Amino acid sequence: MSVATKNGHTPKANDFVTEHWKQHGKEIQKYGDVVKDLPHPLDADIRSQMCKKLNQLLADSIALRDMYKKHHWQVAGPTFYQLHLLFDKHFDEQVEIVDTIAERIQLLGGVTIAMGGDVAEVTKIPRPPAAAKRSPSRSPASSKPTSSSCSSATRSPKPPTRPATTAPTTS
Ligand SMILES: [Fe+2]
Repeated sequence: MSVATKNGHTPKANDFVTEHWKQHGKEIQKYGDVVKDLPHPLDADIRSQMCKKLNQLLADSIALRDMYKKHHWQVAGPTFYQLHLLFDKHFDEQVEIVDTIAERIQLLGGVTIAMGGDVAEVTKIPRPPAAAKRSPSRSPASSKPTSSSCSSATRSPKPPTRPATTAPTTS
């Protein structure tokens, strides 16, 4: 039997999308609570304290992870290519760290912090400006971006410039 939604739309019998689109799942665990009857050697109070601290660490790690991506995208200047790759490498490593912390919280019976808005409220990492900023160490003459996209850097890798070296003479 089809039931009309709030806006008066009556979904068809084979419409598996409309009926469920605006449904909300029932809350089964509040953020900050831990599962009490978990078969775990640590008491619920201890697990609760651990989850609270791990969630702080998780929020800070998520903020750092996203900051690495921000700078991966926005870095500019003569060292663009090297920093672009470096920041993405750190981002990938931060993703692993975030996942490890989050899964530890869940195994302790807690609820992980996950969404950006919640992370922003909890993290102690200062929020960077939304704007792209020039590095304070860069001189005005070299402030022109050399590249601004991932694909151009990937397609035309520029080897790092090395100072000319002279081979030692052995005579
Ligand atoms: Fe990228």
